[in-house]
Amino acid sequence: MAQVHRKPTENIEIFKRRRERVLKSMSPGSALIVASHPELIRNDDVHYPYRQDSNMYYLTGFEEPESFLILRSGEKPQSILFVREKNMERETWDGFRFGPEGAKKEFGFDEVYPIADFSKKSVELLKGFDEVYYRLFKNKNADEIVQNLLLDLKRVYGRSGYGLLTIKDADTFLGEFRLKKNEDDLRNQRKACEISAAAHLLAMKSTKPGVSERQIQGLMTNEFYKNGSAREGYGFIVASGNNATTLHYNFNDQICENGELLLIDAGCEYNFYSGDITRTYPVNGKFSVAQKKVYEGVLKIQKDIINSVRPGIYFKDLHAMGTDMLTQLMLDLGLVSGRKEDVISSLEYKKYYPHGIGHWLGMDVHDAGLYFIKGEARPIEAGMVFTIEPGLYIPAGDKSAPEEYRGIGIRIEDNILVTEKGCEVLTAGVPKEVSEIEAVVGKF
Ligand code: GLY
Ligand code: MN
Ligand code: MN
Repeated sequence: MAQVHRKPTENIEIFKRRRERVLKSMSPGSALIVASHPELIRNDDVHYPYRQDSNMYYLTGFEEPESFLILRSGEKPQSILFVREKNMERETWDGFRFGPEGAKKEFGFDEVYPIADFSKKSVELLKGFDEVYYRLFKNKNADEIVQNLLLDLKRVYGRSGYGLLTIKDADTFLGEFRLKKNEDDLRNQRKACEISAAAHLLAMKSTKPGVSERQIQGLMTNEFYKNGSAREGYGFIVASGNNATTLHYNFNDQICENGELLLIDAGCEYNFYSGDITRTYPVNGKFSVAQKKVYEGVLKIQKDIINSVRPGIYFKDLHAMGTDMLTQLMLDLGLVSGRKEDVISSLEYKKYYPHGIGHWLGMDVHDAGLYFIKGEARPIEAGMVFTIEPGLYIPAGDKSAPEEYRGIGIRIEDNILVTEKGCEVLTAGVPKEVSEIEAVVGKF
C-alpha cells in the first residue's frame, strides 16, 4: 500500500545521468535488470511502510512497487521500465499510480511497459545479449521472474547462439557508482546529515531527568519530517544508562534518569540518502568524573582518526588505529591488563569494543561498495562518505570492570566526506566537546 508522489521527487535529469554513466560502463552485449522492493505485510491488513530498493531509486527515481528496470547496453543504449497499469479502483484504495504512459512522460525512459507484459517483452529485449547484471538472493519473487526469463530465453532461442545468459552481480557493479558520490548524490547526503544533526541538537536541548527515550525519539522524528525527510535511515537507538551497552538496543521505552548517560544513534533519510550520527551525553547536563574520563578518551580517538582521513589511506588502517587506541584506553581505565599487542591479538578488546570503526554511508546506512577488491584493501578516494564511530561499552553487570565505569556505554559517530586534500565532517552541526555538551543539554 505504497503512497507515492504524483511527480518525481527530484529532477529526472539526475537519474538519466546516472543511467548514462552506468550504461557506458556495462560490458558490450550486456543488460542490467533491477527489481523494485517487495511490499511486506506487518500484520493482517497492515503493511510495513514501503521504501523503494536503493538501486532502483538510484537509477530511476521511481518509487512504486511491482516495477522492473532493464538497461540495454550497445550502440543505442536503452532504459526500459515496467510498471503497474493504472487501476482506478486500486488507486481509490491505495493511492496514485503513474501507469506506463504517465511514467514514460514524467520519468524520461525510452520505453515503459505494463509489468504484466514483463515476461513476454523481456525475452524480446534480451535477444542477442551475452550477459545480464542482476542481484540474486535479495528478492525471491524477483529471482523467480528472472529465472523464468532466462529459461524462456533458452527455450525460445534454443541453440541459435542466443540462449542462456551469464549473470554478473548487479549490487557489486552498482556499488562502485554509489560509493563515489558526485554533486547529485552529495546534495542529498549533505542535507540528510544536516537534518540529522539538527535533530540531535534538539534532542540534547530537550533531555533532562524524567524524559522518556521514546519522547526523545518522537521529537527527533518530528524534526526529520519538518525538514523534508520522509523517514529515518534505520531504527532509532535511544539508550539511557546501561541500555547503551547493548549495541542494537531498540526498545527505546525507558525513562532517562538523573546521573545516567544517554546514547542516541539516529539519522534521517533525505531523498533516499541517510545520515548516521551517534552522540552520548549526560541526562542531567553534567558529566561525572568517571563518565568524563571515558568520554574524553573516546572523543580524542574519534578526532585523531578523523584527522588522519585523506585520499590514499586505507579504511582497514583507520580500523586498526581505532582498535589500537581503544585498547590503550581500556588499559588506561583498568578494564583489561597486560600487553596491548596481546589484548589485540587475542581479541580480548572485543569485550568492550565489538564493532568496526565505521562503514560506507549513502542510500543504505551501511552503504553499497567493496572495502577490498579481490582481497586487496582499496585506497580511500575523494567523494567517498563513511562514518567514524569508536565506542566503549561496559555493562553494569561486568564485575571485572572498575566499579565507577560499570553501566557506561559511549559511542561518538560522525559522517565524513573525503575531499581532495583531506576530509569534511558533514555532521559537525551537533556538539561533541564536553564543554559544548554541558552548555546545551537541557537548555531548551
Ligand atoms: N546506526 C548503525 C550504525 O551506526 O552502524
Ligand atoms: Mn554507523
Ligand atoms: Mn549509527
